This record gives sequence, structure tokens and C-alpha cells, in this order.
Amino acid sequence: MMRSVAGEKAGDDWWPRPACGRIDLHHEVEGNLALKIGVCLTRSIVCLILIGLIVSGWSEPCAAEDGLAATKHRQTVMDRLGDDMKAIKRYVTGQADQAAALSAAQDLDETASLVPSLFPKGSDSAKWPGKSAAKPEIWDNPDDFQQLLQALSAGTADLRKSVGTGEATNVQSSMRALAKNACGACHENYRGRRDGE
Ligand code: HEC
Repeated sequence: MMRSVAGEKAGDDWWPRPACGRIDLHHEVEGNLALKIGVCLTRSIVCLILIGLIVSGWSEPCAAEDGLAATKHRQTVMDRLGDDMKAIKRYVTGQADQAAALSAAQDLDETASLVPSLFPKGSDSAKWPGKSAAKPEIWDNPDDFQQLLQALSAGTADLRKSVGTGEATNVQSSMRALAKNACGACHENYRGRRDGE
């Protein structure tokens, strides 16, 4: 329990009060603390401004690099569509079994669902000559392009179903329709050439 000493407010510590010098020291420390916080805040703000400048300075080349990365990614995905088609073709010609064809058809259908996201602006062949074979016309004809994307997704779903029936003739006609109405139709108008082709 606190002892109340005459002349002191009730509840005050009964220990001797700190000497004036120590009180001053205490205030000095507090003052320093405020100063330190102030310096710290100022540094943080300067730091944020610097980061902002660096990021805004870098965003332009970054966006440009994104176009090339998107092109490479698109080509990888397209190659995968091509490999799946070849695997299904092997089934049609009796060189592979239905299970192999079905797994390729599933992969084809799922991979095709990525295609609509593969054409960001800035990944065209005018911007990346020799690297990208995606013609700039893609971005001038969004409605037409959209229809081709729909033909792709409808076609891969149909092919997957046909492979499931196990009828080679069904598979063959689904493959032909997909190759003509989606892959071929899009390539004819919107795919140019790139280095190595
Ligand atoms: C909606 C348009 C569109 C559809 C549908 C489409 N492609 Fe493509 N494809 C392209 C474009 C554009 C390119 C060029 C990509 C590039 O160079 O960036 C391309 C490139 C390719 C390539 C070459 C990739 C490389 O390494 O350069 C292959 C292989 C390919 N497509 C296969 C297919 C197959 C198989 C289908 C159908 C199952 C298909 N594509 C459907 C637009 C399409």
C-alpha cells in the first residue's frame, strides 16, 4: 500500500523524488525521442518518394518487357495446343490408344481456355518484329477475334466429347472442324511469321 507523506499528494510514490538534474535528463531523452521520430518519419517520406520515382521510372521498360514475355508465353501455350492435336491424330491413325487421346483432348480443352488471356496490348509483331507473329490486326478487330476464341473453346469441347465416344470417325470430323474453324481461321488472318519459321 502507498504511504502518504505530508506535503505529497496522496498516491504519489514514497520514494524520494528524482533530483532536478535527473528530471532534466528525462526530458532531454523525451525530446530526443520526439526528434528521432521526426527524423524517422522524414526519412520514411523521402524513402517513399524515392521508391515512387524509381518505380515510375521503371514502369515503362517493364511494360515493354511484359509484351515480349507475353509473346513467349503465348507461343508456349500455342505449341502445347499443337502437341495435343498431334497426340489425338495418332489415335485417329491407330498409333495411340484412347486413354492417351483422352488425356491429350482434356489438356487441349483446358489449355484452350487460357488463350483469351494471351493477347495483351504491346505483344504484337509490329512492336516485336521477328519475335511475335501476332498481327496488329488482332487488336483492330476485337469482335471477329472474339468469335474465333469462341470457336476454339467450342471446338476443343466438342473434340474432347468425340474422343470420349471412342469413334475414330467422330474424332476425325471434330478435329477437322476445330482445325478449320478455329486454329486455321485465326492463323490465316492474324498470324504472321517470326524468326525460325
Ligand atoms: C484466336 C486466334 C488463334 C486460335 C484460335 C489459335 N491460334 Fe495458334 N496462334 C495464333 C497467333 C496469333 C499465333 C502467333 C503467336 C505469336 O507468335 O506470338 C499463333 C501461333 C501458333 C503456333 C506457333 C507457336 C510458336 O511457337 O511460335 C502454333 C503451333 C499454334 N498457334 C497452334 C494452334 C492450334 C493447334 C490451334 C487450335 C487448336 C490454334 N493455334 C488456335 C492465334 C490463334
